[in-house]
Amino acid sequence: MDDRDFRDYEGREPACVKHHVLRQYLLEVALKVGMSSPGVTFNYVDGFSGPWMSTGEVHADTSPHVALTQLRKARDELATRGRPGVMRGFFVEKNKSRFDRLQELLRGFKDIETEAYEGTFEDAIPRAARFVRQAKNPFSFVFIDPTGWQGYDLERIAPLLSATRGEVLINFMTDWVKRFIDSEGSRYGLERLAVESDAWKGLSGLQREDKIVETSACFSPGSGVTATPQAR
Ligand SMILES: C[S@@+](CC[C@H](N)C(=O)[O-])C[C@H]1O[C@@H](n2cnc3c(N)ncnc32)[C@H](O)[C@@H]1O
Repeated sequence: MDDRDFRDYEGREPACVKHHVLRQYLLEVALKVGMSSPGVTFNYVDGFSGPWMSTGEVHADTSPHVALTQLRKARDELATRGRPGVMRGFFVEKNKSRFDRLQELLRGFKDIETEAYEGTFEDAIPRAARFVRQAKNPFSFVFIDPTGWQGYDLERIAPLLSATRGEVLINFMTDWVKRFIDSEGSRYGLERLAVESDAWKGLSGLQREDKIVETSACFSPGSGVTATPQAR
C-alpha cells in the first residue's frame, strides 16, 4: 500500500487493518492451496460484502475489491509456477443500493467468475453452497464480516462450511463483544460464535478483555475457523 491508499482509510483505521489482514492472508492461502492441490478451484465467499464506506469510485478500499485483486495475483502467480488454478467469487449484500454498487464493482473483474446475491448471508447459504460445490477440486475461503455479531448462525451456515474443504475468517468487534457478552438479550448471537465459556467471569479490566478475546479466537480448534477480533 502507498500513502495514498492509507489516506483512503482516514477515520476508519480498523478497516485498514482488516483489509491488510485479508490482503496478506488470502493471497498466502490461495498460493499454498494452489501449489499443493494442482488444478484447484479456489472459491472466495464474502458474506457481508458492501461496498461499505468506500471512498473512491472503484471501491478499492472494500473487501470485494481487495479479495478479487488478490485472487487475480494468485491465479497469475500459480500459472507462472506451472500450477494453474481457477479463482471464483460469491458475494452477498442485503442492502439494495450497496448491492447495485457491488455489481458495478464486479464488472471490473470480468476475468474472474463471480456471482452476487442480494439478501442476507444466511438466506444465501444454499446458493453459495451450490456455487462452491459446482467447481472441480474445490476449496472455499469464507469471509464473514458483519456490522455487529449477528447474521451468521453457525447452524444455518454449516451447509456452506461443510460443502468443500476450506477456511473461514470471521471479523468481529472486540468492543461490542466486551460490552454485550454478559447481557441476556445479546448472548444468543455470541453463543453462536461459540463463546460458551464463562472463563472471563470474575476478571476485570485487561485481564477480562484478554480472556474474552482468547476464548473467542480459539473456538473450534482444528476446524479451519479463524476468528480475528478487532478493536474498533
Ligand atoms: C462491516 S460492512 C462489511 C464491509 C466489507 N466486508 C468490507 O470489508 O469492505 C457489513 C456489510 O454487510 C451488510 N449486511 C448487514 N447485515 C447483513 C446480512 N445479514 N447479510 C448480508 N449482508 C449484510 C451491510 O449492508 C454492510 O454493507
